[in-house]
This record gives sequence, C-alpha cells and structure tokens, in this order.
Amino acid sequence: MLKKIGILTSGGDAPGMNATVIGAIKAGIALNKDMYVVYDGYKGLIEKNFKKVDKHFIEDKLASGGTAIKTARLPEFKEEEVRKVAVKNMKEEGIEALIVIGGDGSYMGAKRLTEMGINCVGLPGTIDNDIASSDYTIGFDTALNTVVNAIDQIRDTMTSHNRCAIVEIMGNKCPDLTSFASIATNADEVFTCDHPLDDKNALFDRMEEAKRNGKDCYIILVAEKLLDTKELEKELNAKTSWETRLTILGHIQRGGKPTAMERINAVKMGAYAVELLDKGIGGVCIGIHENKLRYVDIYDALKLPRDEHKDLYQLHELIK
Ligand code: F6P
Repeated sequence: MLKKIGILTSGGDAPGMNATVIGAIKAGIALNKDMYVVYDGYKGLIEKNFKKVDKHFIEDKLASGGTAIKTARLPEFKEEEVRKVAVKNMKEEGIEALIVIGGDGSYMGAKRLTEMGINCVGLPGTIDNDIASSDYTIGFDTALNTVVNAIDQIRDTMTSHNRCAIVEIMGNKCPDLTSFASIATNADEVFTCDHPLDDKNALFDRMEEAKRNGKDCYIILVAEKLLDTKELEKELNAKTSWETRLTILGHIQRGGKPTAMERINAVKMGAYAVELLDKGIGGVCIGIHENKLRYVDIYDALKLPRDEHKDLYQLHELIK
C-alpha cells in the first residue's frame, strides 16, 4: 500500500499553488498517508530538501499567492543522471509517489520519474493557461483579473490625458491572458501570435480615425515576446497624433490572492491527485475539461493542440 507521497511546485509560481498543496495534504492525511513537501521544486529532490508535514501545514495560506514551498526552474532535470539522484533520494526517504504542480516543462520531468519507478501526477499550475489538457490552469483566473484591473486603471489616466496606452502582457508563448483581457477591458486593439500586427499603416489609420471620431483614449494590448513594444511606443509617438505610453505589466501578474474559483479548483485538483496515486495511477496529468476533473497520460497531454480561441478575436471585433 502506498504510504509516503511528496509534493512540489515547479517553474513560475502561480496564485492557487498553496491551495493545491493544502488540498493534497488534507486528502493524503485523511487516507493515512505520510505527506512530504519538497522545497524549491525539482532542486529540492536533488538536495533532499524534504519535510514531513501534518494536516495543518500552511492551511493559513489558502488565500495567499506565491508558493510557500518555493519553486525553481531546473533545466538540468532533463538529464537522466540528475534524475537518478532524485530517485535515489526519494527512495532513501521511502517516498514512493510525487505530485508535481507546474507548467508543461515540469510535466516531462514527472513522466520521466514515473518511468524510473516513482509514480507522479502533474497538476497544471501556471498563469499562462498553456496546458492544452486543461481548460484552465491554476493561476490563470487570478492573473487575468490582475491584468484586467491594471488595464482599467491605466484607462483612467490615459483618458484624463487623451493618450494611447500599449500594455504588454505575460503568457510566454500562449496568448490567452492577452486575448481574454481584450474582451474584459474592451481594448481597442489586441495583438498576439494568433492575431499579429501585420499592417502598421492600417493601425495608424484606425488610430487617426478614432481620434477624429472624438475618442479620448486608445488601448492596445500586446502579448509578450511578440514584438518590441518599446519600438512600437516610439513609432506611435512619431507617426500618429496620439501621445503614447507603454506599460509592461511584468511580475505583478504572478502575485496576489487567488480568486475564489481558483482556490476551489486548486483544492479539488490537489485532492484528486492523491486519489489517483492511491489507486496506483501515475505518469498522468490532471485537468479540468468541460467543468469536470479528468486525467490524461502526460505524453498525450503534451501532444494536444492549443485552443486558439478564435471565437474571442471575433467577439473582440464585434464589441470594440
Ligand atoms: O510561465 C509564467 C511566466 O510568468 C511567463 O508568463 C513569463 O514569460 C515567464 O514566466 C517569466 O519567467 P521569469 O519569472 O523566470 O522571468
């Protein structure tokens, strides 16, 4: 019978990670498991930075952002020799199964560990919403609300000054934070990898027309890593009549208290991970699909195509 389960958070932190850890710990202890947290993500496996915890561990952090058990990015975990150290350390401690909360980069490590004898379950923890096996990742809803609140505030000051704002939004290669925010803020323009800025002159024309029609604020959302937003700011100041200011939202998007739905989904997924491991299921990742929890083999999950949310761009055209 499975007795000892480890939990770690990996990659960029995300609001809701603490709630996920709490869900897993409570579920594990209810099933008489010994629950261990691993500090600093995969790095903690290599450094044997484990701690056995009781059911009250971080329970006061359900509503807190960040991850109380810390996180790290460890590209070296791709190397088998490094993973062997992790497996040896876990076996020495008697840890037979592991819950990995992180992005798709962390999932591959979880699959490889499963192949090396430690059953692992991956949970989607990232603000980017870039895990196709889940409709929503833990952290996305909170980050989206942070982005939307920031844009609302930027709009206030831009309107007072009759200005244009360029807002650069995180997401790595996934445009969801930007495309979803375009609807929630009724932005004037949205540019992402699925909907790039192909024709700058057409943009200048739209901006001038908006000004002629009496618009007193122009909001342009740009997904990070798409284009040089500083250059775009210079160009708009030089080539249009709009005084333009750039805001790169940056790491503010990763922090903050998780939203209510985030907390609920996170606790559910954490508890479900323990249930699967207890049934001997590993090498899978959990997601929410059509409002239901499901699990998918990690290799299959990583092959799933990303939802481009084409409907959102159509909706944006309709409402802007
Ligand atoms: O994956 C989450 C994320 O915040 C991305 O949106 C962003 O590109 C990246 O992490 C930033 O990483 P770091 O905090 O390591 O600079």
